[in-house]
Amino acid sequence: MAFLKLTTLFPFLLIYVFLFTSSPAHCNEIEDVILKEINTFRKNTNHTEFSHNPNADCFADKVAESLKDEPCSRASDFFYQLGMVPRLPNYQQLFGKCNIKANTTKDAMMLPTCVPKLNKTLLIEDYTQSPYNKSLTNPSFTSIGVGSKDQWMVVLVTTNNSSGSFSSGSAPSLLGLLHCLIGSFIGFIFIALLIN
Ligand SMILES: *[C@@H]1O[C@H](CO)[C@@H](O)[C@H](O)[C@H]1NC(C)=O
Ligand SMILES: *[C@@H]1O[C@H](CO)[C@@H](O)[C@H](O)[C@H]1NC(C)=O
Ligand SMILES: *[C@@H]1O[C@H](CO)[C@@H](O)[C@H](O)[C@H]1NC(C)=O
Ligand SMILES: *[C@@H]1O[C@H](CO)[C@@H](O)[C@H](O)[C@H]1NC(C)=O
Ligand SMILES: *[C@@H]1O[C@H](CO)[C@@H](O)[C@H](O)[C@H]1NC(C)=O
Ligand SMILES: *[C@@H]1O[C@H](CO)[C@@H](O)[C@H](O)[C@H]1NC(C)=O
Repeated sequence: MAFLKLTTLFPFLLIYVFLFTSSPAHCNEIEDVILKEINTFRKNTNHTEFSHNPNADCFADKVAESLKDEPCSRASDFFYQLGMVPRLPNYQQLFGKCNIKANTTKDAMMLPTCVPKLNKTLLIEDYTQSPYNKSLTNPSFTSIGVGSKDQWMVVLVTTNNSSGSFSSGSAPSLLGLLHCLIGSFIGFIFIALLIN
């Protein structure tokens, strides 16, 4: 029975997957909101929009994961330019997990913040109405990655040249996309079962 229901739902599944894969950004709602708001802020201040850097996204997610047990009061400890001495997570290892060449990360800038429940209003303020807004309009930076975990949000701004572009040899972002897809596929089945 469940199988039959699933086959009748197949066209909707296709539409769902299509809609999902045609989205240019991540599979995380609050991260998308932050990305959009930052680009709106850029437009409003006469800057071109950031392009999306999937490697930076991957790295930001890994950093957020490794910060998840840190108290919010430490947020400013992790703000830094990646060429400087790292303070907490094992960045070298995280570069490896995202298949990023470590020598393309020096000039990037990491902007972490910690907000209980990732309250959208407060997050937007943290990025656009704080000293972070200087980094968001610094002409050195041309693309962006966003990651989050629990109460941590990590924004990474990257350059368009070899000293800060977060480049990789192969394509870990494809794996990331697959991961999202499988996640949403399971989500879809779950919803399909619920509405039946
Ligand atoms: C953006 O450009 C417009 C048109 O050139 C100008 O009127 C406006 O003051 C500028 N805004 C900022 C924040 O520089
Ligand atoms: C980064 O390292 C790779 C080898 O790991 C090398 O081929 C490349 O030239 C280096 N790039 C820079 C900007 O140093
Ligand atoms: C987010 O924070 C603002 C300001 O403190 C508050 O007014 C709002 O209710 C919060 N939203 C949620 C969903 O908690
Ligand atoms: C940037 O943040 C500062 C507070 O640090 C604020 O005074 C300023 O208005 C913000 N800039 C813009 C363009 O919103
Ligand atoms: C890369 O771009 C940044 C920012 O524009 C600049 O400071 C840096 O010197 C450039 N590095 C290289 C290797 O071109
Ligand atoms: C990189 O960004 C700088 C500053 O925005 C821009 O002047 C330059 O043309 C860009 N280079 C490439 C190769 O896109």
